[in-house]
Amino acid sequence: MKYPLIAPSVLAADFANLQREVEMLNDSPADWIHVDVMDGVFVPNISFGLPVCEAIHRHARKPLDVHLMIMQPERYLEAFAKAGAASLTVHLEASPHLHRTLSQIRELGCRAGVALNPHTPVWLLENVLHQLDLVLLMSVNPGFGGQEFIEQTYRKTTELRRMLQSAGSAALIEIDGGVSNQNAGALVEAGATVLVAGSSVFKADSPAEAIGQLKSAGRQPVA
Ligand code: DX5
Ligand code: ZN
Repeated sequence: MKYPLIAPSVLAADFANLQREVEMLNDSPADWIHVDVMDGVFVPNISFGLPVCEAIHRHARKPLDVHLMIMQPERYLEAFAKAGAASLTVHLEASPHLHRTLSQIRELGCRAGVALNPHTPVWLLENVLHQLDLVLLMSVNPGFGGQEFIEQTYRKTTELRRMLQSAGSAALIEIDGGVSNQNAGALVEAGATVLVAGSSVFKADSPAEAIGQLKSAGRQPVA
């Protein structure tokens, strides 16, 4: 697989024209479609839920990368798997029984992911490393698109990369929040393999071109 994978976040799309936006992503160099589910409790914002995920899945020709920003996500794993999720990522901070939750995700046939808020240290993953297909590092505080990238994420990415390597884990490292051409190269150099991008894709004049540029920015060695 050629890294980085690019996962545009539909949170920044035009919700009134979701089918058109998904078709644009189908025809673009995007690898996954990132779907941000927010409950207004774990995060201050409410985005959308199952029916919208299903609707996206109906038109998508790329895997749905579902990021659950909800409390006790274990209550909805099966429903989101049925709604078309290829990856299911839960927040460590919202999952009281993370070990069981990750087993359930794999049993459902989905890629199992854990997301960490900016303040959450990577070593907290130590006891579940063997259960992980993906780790999502939040590079903004979750809840909203269009926020400024937190620079500390580079160090955290390097630390996570080392931790996965020494455990022999092939888990992907996904960075979410404030990702653009400005930081894509350095993120990949630090060890990121998946880049989520909302505003930098959907606010661009040509979102499809912006996705292509992010992919190549991530492949250029950083000077
Ligand atoms: C934030 C979401 C992100 C968001 C990223 O809570 O998890 O996926 O859509 O948007 P940008 O790229 O605009 O920061
Ligand atoms: Zn997200």
